[in-house]
Amino acid sequence: MRGTDGEKIDFGGVILYNLCIMKWVYIEDIASFKDQKIEIRGWLYNKRSSGKIRFLLVRDGTGLIQGTLFDPEANKSLFDKFDELTQESSLLVRGTVREDKRAPGGYELSISDIEILQIAEEYPITPKEHGISFLMEHRHLWLRSQKQNSILQIRAEVIRAIRNFFDGRRFRLMDTPILTPSACEGTTTLFETEYFDQKAYLSQSGQLYNEATAMAFGKVYCFGPTFRAEKSKTRKHLIEFWMVEPEVAFATLEDIIELSEDLILFIIERVLEWNKNDLELLERDTLPLETIKKPFPRVTYEDILPKFQEKGSKIEWGMDLGAPEESILPEIYDSPVCITHFPTAIKAFYMQPDAKRPDTVLCVDVMAPEGYGELIGGGQRIHDPKLLEQRIKEHNLPREDYKWYLDLRRYGSVPHSGFGLGVERLLSWICKIQHIREAIPFPRLLYKIYP
Ligand code: 4AD
Ligand code: MG
Repeated sequence: MRGTDGEKIDFGGVILYNLCIMKWVYIEDIASFKDQKIEIRGWLYNKRSSGKIRFLLVRDGTGLIQGTLFDPEANKSLFDKFDELTQESSLLVRGTVREDKRAPGGYELSISDIEILQIAEEYPITPKEHGISFLMEHRHLWLRSQKQNSILQIRAEVIRAIRNFFDGRRFRLMDTPILTPSACEGTTTLFETEYFDQKAYLSQSGQLYNEATAMAFGKVYCFGPTFRAEKSKTRKHLIEFWMVEPEVAFATLEDIIELSEDLILFIIERVLEWNKNDLELLERDTLPLETIKKPFPRVTYEDILPKFQEKGSKIEWGMDLGAPEESILPEIYDSPVCITHFPTAIKAFYMQPDAKRPDTVLCVDVMAPEGYGELIGGGQRIHDPKLLEQRIKEHNLPREDYKWYLDLRRYGSVPHSGFGLGVERLLSWICKIQHIREAIPFPRLLYKIYP
């Protein structure tokens, strides 16, 4: 059954070339297959003709490759298939990998065979501009576009980096529940659901459970979806977002500020290393990412207020930072900045007061550069059982629901700290995208849950 060079042999259903099994290769790995005969399995992204040459742009999810067809007389059936192909038709293309500096990606495929799996119906997303509501309605297809692909490639790398960072430092992964009986971050953004004969809420944060696992394992992290019934429609808020939350027994505010700096730097370095092409496709100027160093500038809430006011903000002591302050920040800093010691009254019930200024708490908000808002919120937790009990009362939280949480302060209580990093916030900044809805495959937005 030996064939001559390039001859195709059907060997019990397996296509063989010169007795080598045709290799199914992903486009991202193409450089390792120079001058070899391979198979790409993907979808037609685009096609064009130039004289007697035909170009197919094929995508397989990992990249795009240009395939070329020559000699219409000798390859009539291939040219017929080319004519038949529509955008997003699924196909297998076989051929030889050629290095070509002019081709997108530096390689192209000299096609010897095309196998069409399906001719796609007229594809709704064409190269022309579409309105955002149309694209959101077609999110399941929009994901196939290059820009969306690059953003979500970076997302996958950000998540891999987060896991590597914490696993590498031997934090123990502890999965916290999604269905919870009580609130962590205030009662106004809770998603309520039935839990047999009780009420339950979708988790706003794994923190309270993390505090229990930190007392059991020392240093832990949870990483999962979190839910906030945010009634505001902004470029920075999702209803469902992913948060990674480390929690460390015996750690102080200072310790977790350093941890947050290390985490952000680790992720940025990884993306700069692994996602060069994606950042390029997104036309992201990487200089603001490359120049970030630790320590990030630190400033207390009290000290930054006058800076905001000087630049026209109406903020007063006791008010939370909002969109106007977030947009002023880049005028003051070109790095992430740690704002600490917020007023006790505007922060969550569990935050440890500063002994020197008990009207403020030992907390940190790490703010993104370039106007992307809060990346991280965290701080030191109350470890005194009496004070915690008092706060639960002041915040009108049902004591019954927090009995287990108070137990953590009854049996070997220690100072401890942690934070939460929102993946989509970080990704929006890294990719410098206009709206957080593009930072997750299927965004859940105010009143919008399709598809
Ligand atoms: O500041 P937050 O509310 O902190 C907590 O939930 C703490 N319990 C975390 C902890 O200490 N373990 O939220 C943390 C981060 C924010 O800084 C932001 O990045 C992100 O979560 N975030 C959102 N991201 C997208 N959409 C929303 N609606 C978000 N709300 C918070
Ligand atoms: Mg916050």
